[in-house]
Amino acid sequence: MRPMVKPRREKARSNTRWSSKDLIGLQGVPADEIRALLFASRAYVDVRSDVEDSVLHGTTIANLFFEDSTRTRTSFTTAAHRLRAHVSNLLGAFSSVTKGETLIDTARNVEAMGVRALVIRARQAGAAGLIAANVKCPVINAGDGRHEHPTQGLLDIYTLAEANGRLDDFDMKGLTVAIVGDIVSSRVARSNIAGLTALGARVICVGPAGLAPRSLESLGGRGGAVTVTHELDEVLPKVDAVMMLRVQFERHDGGADAQGKSSPAIASVREYRSLFGMTAERADRLKNGAVVMHPGPINRGIELDPEVADGPRSVILRQVTVGVGVRMAVLETCARALD
Ligand code: NCD
Repeated sequence: MRPMVKPRREKARSNTRWSSKDLIGLQGVPADEIRALLFASRAYVDVRSDVEDSVLHGTTIANLFFEDSTRTRTSFTTAAHRLRAHVSNLLGAFSSVTKGETLIDTARNVEAMGVRALVIRARQAGAAGLIAANVKCPVINAGDGRHEHPTQGLLDIYTLAEANGRLDDFDMKGLTVAIVGDIVSSRVARSNIAGLTALGARVICVGPAGLAPRSLESLGGRGGAVTVTHELDEVLPKVDAVMMLRVQFERHDGGADAQGKSSPAIASVREYRSLFGMTAERADRLKNGAVVMHPGPINRGIELDPEVADGPRSVILRQVTVGVGVRMAVLETCARALD
């Protein structure tokens, strides 16, 4: 039997709790509620054995994944196992959705089997919220179309707070984060922008006009917390972190090709790399202590060069480690909201 540990229950600074049974997105969520999930995560990040007193002990969590995933599904599975829950996996390509069943019917049938929580990844923006409104059990959004990927946003913010010594209060004031690349297609960017700006950080969106349009500035509200630029080189010395994004070819309209790596949104992969790729020379121009992040999957040699991905500024594998703890906290917190 694996050893069990009792997680240190962390005292939050404020009394605000996460009170919803679901986690669908970070947009519009008050800072204190986002902090409540981050404070809860501190008890689980770096826990490598099963925890003793989880409300999910002996229950079943269902992963309903209608889109490909490596990290996110494995991370939720590992998180559930560390909480001593069972996991059942339903993968889109092998489900009755291919026979015309709706996502809501699929989710309600899986819930009727007695699962304690649903983790949903879907191609359609809004799918997780729709399912949450139609089932009684907790629903965690593991990425819905171009909408949100809230656990990725939380794990990114946690990793950034850790790198900047801010785990005490998750106050991100004074920090500036560049999100670079295909922001318009990115649910990761949307969740990060919402969470980071709620906690006081500034975000600079960097990319070609088709992938980083000016309209993204509206995500920062009237305070101007989000700005857009098309010049990566001038941003490098000013930021505390760069979050590199993959060009999400498969999410582009009009002839995009993920395998062939072509899209009407960029002239060529070569040109994209020369203007927006994080090369070793560009990484050298970052200020001391600035970190390089990526949610994965990385397209090495396009948005990020191998020397940087594996270099001293990279916190990419730390993001993956932190992700398991954050997902443990989110599963536990949402399940407790129903108690
Ligand atoms: C991302 C996703 O699927 O939204 N990856 C992830 O979950 N870590 C980013 C991407 O697909 O590029």
